Amino acid sequence: MMYSTCWRLVSVNTTRSTSRLYHYGNNPTIKLNTGCPIPVLGLGTWKSKPGEVLEAVKYAICVGYRHIDCALLYGNEKEVGQAIQAKICDGTITRENIFVTSKLWNTFHGNFCKVKEGLEKTLTDLCLPYLDLYLIHWPTGFVQGDELWPKSPNGEIAVSTEHHFTCVWQEMERLQKIGLTRMIGVSNFNQAQINKIMSIANICPVMNQVECHPYLNQVQLSSFCKEKTINITAYSPLGARDFVSAGTPGPLDDYMISCIAKKHCKTAGQILIRYQIQRGHVVIPKSVSPERIAQNFEVFDFSLSDQEMNMILALERGKKGRIIKFLEAAAHPEYPFTEQLEKSDPAKKKA
Ligand SMILES: NC(=O)c1ccc[n+]([C@@H]2O[C@H](COP(=O)([O-])OP(=O)(O)OC[C@H]3O[C@@H](n4cnc5c(N)ncnc54)[C@H](OP(=O)(O)O)[C@@H]3O)[C@@H](O)[C@H]2O)c1
Repeated sequence: MMYSTCWRLVSVNTTRSTSRLYHYGNNPTIKLNTGCPIPVLGLGTWKSKPGEVLEAVKYAICVGYRHIDCALLYGNEKEVGQAIQAKICDGTITRENIFVTSKLWNTFHGNFCKVKEGLEKTLTDLCLPYLDLYLIHWPTGFVQGDELWPKSPNGEIAVSTEHHFTCVWQEMERLQKIGLTRMIGVSNFNQAQINKIMSIANICPVMNQVECHPYLNQVQLSSFCKEKTINITAYSPLGARDFVSAGTPGPLDDYMISCIAKKHCKTAGQILIRYQIQRGHVVIPKSVSPERIAQNFEVFDFSLSDQEMNMILALERGKKGRIIKFLEAAAHPEYPFTEQLEKSDPAKKKA
């Protein structure tokens, strides 16, 4: 499958941002639909353990990262906050030099008080007065309470349909209006769900954060979001090694990626990150290793050719390529990856 798309790095601003207040050093930015810049490369923090993430975030900021991707669910926002504070205190950055994203967890889908409670917990833990970007983590609500993974009596996750994500979106808009977050967006939303948001929104989402790597390229969703002026952040861009069982081969082990890496004297990780940036996506690889944090930032000194971009794109595996299936929420009517639930047609198999 070949695409004639021109893969040039579209409108990436490698100089200091034109925005008076918010500027991000040497981390190139793209503009969101608000006109505000976002650094194209951020540090992921899912599964970065307390005890590791403090040093990882501090080191990343020293290396030049100006974008940290967080979530209440990750259980490490306190340490991420301590790291950001440490780098503000030692004068490396100001609050305006660091783009911080976090996400509203499913058990906080509710009325304004509940949604605000979710954001306020994150702000308290991060020790920040406001976020740059707040995302609805998933379109699926869970039953509210102290448990982040509430269980029904039958042992399944207790999903809740009481507050549809369109209502949650309206509360997100209020959070932006009162200044607790500069911008709002969504994560793990499919096209139909984006359309539902657009039909009621006064504020257009700036971002849809979704799984994206060569085995799940999200070509359709990416161009659909682009049409709607919504940017894509590619999560698990390296294949989420902390999540898959040890030894499962992923895009980092792909022969094609290693050939391209060799040609550019780069690592497979750097190719996978550069690939997303050239697609116009924001990308948030996670690492707690100083060596890999630094390596993952060295992606602005080379380019992939159109042919290489197409070769990587051709590694697409469709629904088999999805790693984060989130089947815990499969019973929810707004479960976003319905293709994951479709059984393969045995008649087709025989043909
Ligand atoms: N919105 C959502 O629902 C959602 C879902 C998943 C992820 N995310 C976000 O996206 C971020 C990234 O995704 P992810 O954490 O799933 O996985 P990822 O970034 O694809 O991969 C992280 C894994 O790759 C390793 N790694 C990092 N750099 C490497 C390199 N250059 N070479 C080889 N291995 C390398 C890391 O190990 P070391 O740490 O040991 O380096 C870690 O095991 C998350 O941390 C989170 O912030 C969001």
